[in-house]
Amino acid sequence: MERYTEAKYRTLHEANENELERLRGKSAESPWKPAYHIHPQYGLMNDPNGLAYFNGEFQVFYQWYPFGAIHGMKHWAHVKSADLVNWERLPAALVPVEDYESHGAYSGASLEVDGKLYLYYTGNIKYSAEERSANQCLAIMDQEGKIQKYKNNPIIEGVPQGYTGHVRDPKVFEKNGRYYMLLGAQRENMTGAIIVYESDNAIDWSFKGELNLQIDFPESVYMLECPDYFELDGKDVLIFSPQGLKAEGHDYHNLYNVMYAVGHLDVEALSFVPEHFQELEKGFDFYAPQTFAGKHNERLLFSWAGMGEIDYPSDKEDWAHCLSIPRELGLVDGKLVQKPSVMLKQLRAKSETNSVTIEAGSVMIDEGIGQHELEFNFDTENADVFGIELFASEKEGLVLEFDCSSQAVRLNREKFEWAFGGEYGFVRSSGLKIGTSVKVQVFVDHSIAEIFVNDGEAVFTARVFPENGSNGVKLFTDQKMTCSYVKHELKQGITR
Ligand code: FRU
Repeated sequence: MERYTEAKYRTLHEANENELERLRGKSAESPWKPAYHIHPQYGLMNDPNGLAYFNGEFQVFYQWYPFGAIHGMKHWAHVKSADLVNWERLPAALVPVEDYESHGAYSGASLEVDGKLYLYYTGNIKYSAEERSANQCLAIMDQEGKIQKYKNNPIIEGVPQGYTGHVRDPKVFEKNGRYYMLLGAQRENMTGAIIVYESDNAIDWSFKGELNLQIDFPESVYMLECPDYFELDGKDVLIFSPQGLKAEGHDYHNLYNVMYAVGHLDVEALSFVPEHFQELEKGFDFYAPQTFAGKHNERLLFSWAGMGEIDYPSDKEDWAHCLSIPRELGLVDGKLVQKPSVMLKQLRAKSETNSVTIEAGSVMIDEGIGQHELEFNFDTENADVFGIELFASEKEGLVLEFDCSSQAVRLNREKFEWAFGGEYGFVRSSGLKIGTSVKVQVFVDHSIAEIFVNDGEAVFTARVFPENGSNGVKLFTDQKMTCSYVKHELKQGITR
């Protein structure tokens, strides 16, 4: 069948150096470029891919369209690090030049097999603007870092019967001496599913069936993207990104959302019995997360700190999005909690401890924080409504508000000159038992804040695009309260 053509389906190999130089130059001076969050030098990034601690180094790949802030021909970009905070940019790892990946090297995960890193990904095929198919593909990275596509690609051609062309994002793992691949899929009746393939050698795969998730998704869920699986403290955890969920109370307010389920997986029997499932994150810009085992076998997560179909203010500079900071996952009372990886402490340059008591009203505690970590301990005393304003100036501010009467925490990003994404609302929230003390840890990086409440009980990711100078930190309360806090200046971790 004839393939679809459109200008955005073009690879790096077709670019000339002047064009790339122009793209690099255009975004280089942006005040919104993060200092320690992994982001593209130019073009659009989305999902983290192929995450691994391999051969003594952290490998992070990500979905990348080089030629501007649109979703076009996806490449795999590549950065690596010895310490999880200082990142080196490497040449693109996968450039989709083959017939079996004619419309992009889509997302996937990695697995170490016989001392090599196997990179699994989806070769996206488009026949028209609407019609598509998918091949599952393999590339192999050796100990020297050389990456080669497997000679007999694709390793899985097309999609199994009963599913549309939306089958993608392989996650491969080994269990009881066999290899399994999870794929996000869409059934022919337009509902979402996770399907499973199996293999003896991690190369030759056969279709096993659909995973019985035992979660009643509403019929509006039309696709599950980016399945992830791991074991944690003797439990099995699945993370996936459903499309088509409707907002419900505090949950699922983004266009696309992320869920996790903790329970028991019997992959041989294609069964997952959930003990608990819920939304993974409460912020605006969090999608397609992927996890991997760190240096000490801790479970680390990176996410795309972005959302599809929304125009971001940096689009006009021809770059878009970044990844979250690496987060370490834990289980507390059967629920998943996310904390900033302890490795991030290496970024701290200068630290300062302070404390303020506010009767009522607000106090600016710093005017110029753009690249910092902040740790707050609130002693709520009589306060009913209190909180923190980040990226604060006279005109602007990202407002995190704790509300004791409704036992909720809310994040509002409406107050910006460059407010964006309002079609999905400017407020995100989470229910929270607010006691006499509240702990908040925040990572601020020029155009992103990641907020961890009470050691990861509720986590919010928010991109904001402040005017120059909107970099203050303000505390506010309706009644007397005390807050002690530590400010850490953070170093640069990646070139802009
Ligand atoms: C998620 C996703 C994946 C796909 C990739 C394409 O954001 O849609 O399902 O593989 O992005 O860039």
